[in-house]
Amino acid sequence: MSAAMTEYQRVAEVGEIPDPGKMLVDVDGEMVALFHVGGQFFAIDDVCTHDGGPLADGELIDHKIACPRHGAKFDIRTGAALTMPALRATRAHEVKVEDGGVWVRLRAEATAAGPGAHAVAGPAGSVGTAGPVGQATAPQAATPETTPAAAAGLTPDGSSAALCEDSVRELLKAVKDPELFVNIVDLGLIYGVTLTPAADVPGKQQISVDMTMTSPACPAGPQLIGDTKRVLAAHPDVSAVEVRIVMDPPWTPDRMTDAARDQLGIF
Ligand code: FES
Repeated sequence: MSAAMTEYQRVAEVGEIPDPGKMLVDVDGEMVALFHVGGQFFAIDDVCTHDGGPLADGELIDHKIACPRHGAKFDIRTGAALTMPALRATRAHEVKVEDGGVWVRLRAEATAAGPGAHAVAGPAGSVGTAGPVGQATAPQAATPETTPAAAAGLTPDGSSAALCEDSVRELLKAVKDPELFVNIVDLGLIYGVTLTPAADVPGKQQISVDMTMTSPACPAGPQLIGDTKRVLAAHPDVSAVEVRIVMDPPWTPDRMTDAARDQLGIF
């Protein structure tokens, strides 16, 4: 598709889609999810901005569609990303009803904002025309939760803190997802922590961390693995760190703690 392509295309008949209902249509070679809700039609890209999930396959609840892969919700009127793990809007397209058909005109750009934005519906009476832009709000940077001494596994007087699974999880709160600015423990990415006495270095421990990603192709993966190793290896009682990536069971948003939800503005 080209950005200059602005002609309406007839993509469905009005009676073809129940209300509420949805349908996947091809508009100039682009796969578009078409929705019929409350007597109006709406169209957004069939692409979740988190990791490409097929939105037309998701669950439709009022004016929200839930990505079938990791649960991000989008407003079908504006394309706004309403919940994690999606941060960016998907494109919403212009829709009209004419001659008993549903017509879609592709927009070149997404117009709505990300999670935390309050998307505003289009003018009443206009048939499914996507609404105006929501207020863009960047995720807030987290307040540092871990002091440098704590991050190194030291007590305030500089002595080494005893290591256990809980203290390792505390240390890992110093590792933050670079896109979401939330630590990996509160995001629910740490599936397991195992401590084993180091055979070759008396008094030290080997740590194995089972970590997942919000999606298999998460671009932050290498950074999260590197930061995890660096933070744990800085503890004076650690001799080795292993990070294993586990994708089964897959991460879902309900693994986040309330603290993470608060930070991301999810209620
Ligand atoms: S691909 Fe849609 S939420 Fe991950």
